[in-house]
Amino acid sequence: MIEKIKEHIEEVERFNAHTLEEAENFRIKYLGKKGVLNDLFAAFKDVPNEQKKEYGQTINRLKNLAQDRVQELKERLADAKADEKRYGDLSRPGYPIEIGSRHPISIVKNQIIDIFSRIGFNVSEGPEIEDDWHNFTALNLPEYHPARDMQDTFFVQTNPDMLLRTHTSSVQARYMENNKPPIRTISPGRVYRNEAISARSHCFFHQVEGLYVDKGVSFADLKQTLQYFTSEMFGKSKIRLRPSYFPFTEPSAEVDVYWGLETETDYRMTKGTGWLEIMGCGMVDPNVLQNCGIDPNEYSGYAFGMGIDRIALLQYQISDIRMLSENDLRFLQQFKASF
Ligand code: DAH
Repeated sequence: MIEKIKEHIEEVERFNAHTLEEAENFRIKYLGKKGVLNDLFAAFKDVPNEQKKEYGQTINRLKNLAQDRVQELKERLADAKADEKRYGDLSRPGYPIEIGSRHPISIVKNQIIDIFSRIGFNVSEGPEIEDDWHNFTALNLPEYHPARDMQDTFFVQTNPDMLLRTHTSSVQARYMENNKPPIRTISPGRVYRNEAISARSHCFFHQVEGLYVDKGVSFADLKQTLQYFTSEMFGKSKIRLRPSYFPFTEPSAEVDVYWGLETETDYRMTKGTGWLEIMGCGMVDPNVLQNCGIDPNEYSGYAFGMGIDRIALLQYQISDIRMLSENDLRFLQQFKASF
């Protein structure tokens, strides 16, 4: 007899209900008029005297347990029912969480940062609304210098000394003013130029500036670094440096990478030459070092600057630069990358 009651106790402990109806059926089964407990109490009179005490205690335990269980289940299920009214069916599947994708500009920027950080460059930033000194004058572009015309500038109307930076070279000037050599830094950011918007140019775009200043930095160091960069970035290490002019470097060069002529797109992109221009560079002009508080007799440096948008267009074969700022999801969703 007592063994049987113990089995009931186990069953009550294990029981779980998912609906109020199930809980009610459970109550009827144990605590109802024709329920298990009533039968057990009715059998009490037939229990031998020496077992009466234990028997009584055990069925009382079963009774309390069953009552507690029913009450607990009913409360919980009633709460869930109220929640369901409030929130709808909580067991329904959720909305799928979609994984976003980075913007191609961010992907390329992060790749560039990663490549240069492996050879000891840190990342620095400067303001997009810049003063004349850091954007032009400190970089050897004094007022009325004809080279200022190379970069059509947006000026702040209320303060002619302030402008939207036309290049990230302004961060070079700031970094040299605030840090002592050895300096190895790259400065990514957005720049602005007063240009007509077309498939090939925009009034804002992105650049990465690079700067290395130390004792005995040479043009050979520059070339080696750029070669490392192009082979890491594009898998192409054939480059050429064409003599050029920038006011802030002397000598200056433009860097072309040999892209190859394997596909029709290669022909179109390189205008049939196989070569693609990817950045400007040179040895930091001694005047610039001087302007920024670094002794040009003790230190030398190299600098380079490249357009991120341009590289993104090349890497992903995007034909129109405007796509990069239109925020069309059909375009953006195509760029799933780990960077
Ligand atoms: N600032 C130049 C531009 O916007 C790019 C550039 C060229 C940066 C040569 C440099 C450099 O640091 O050395 O076209």
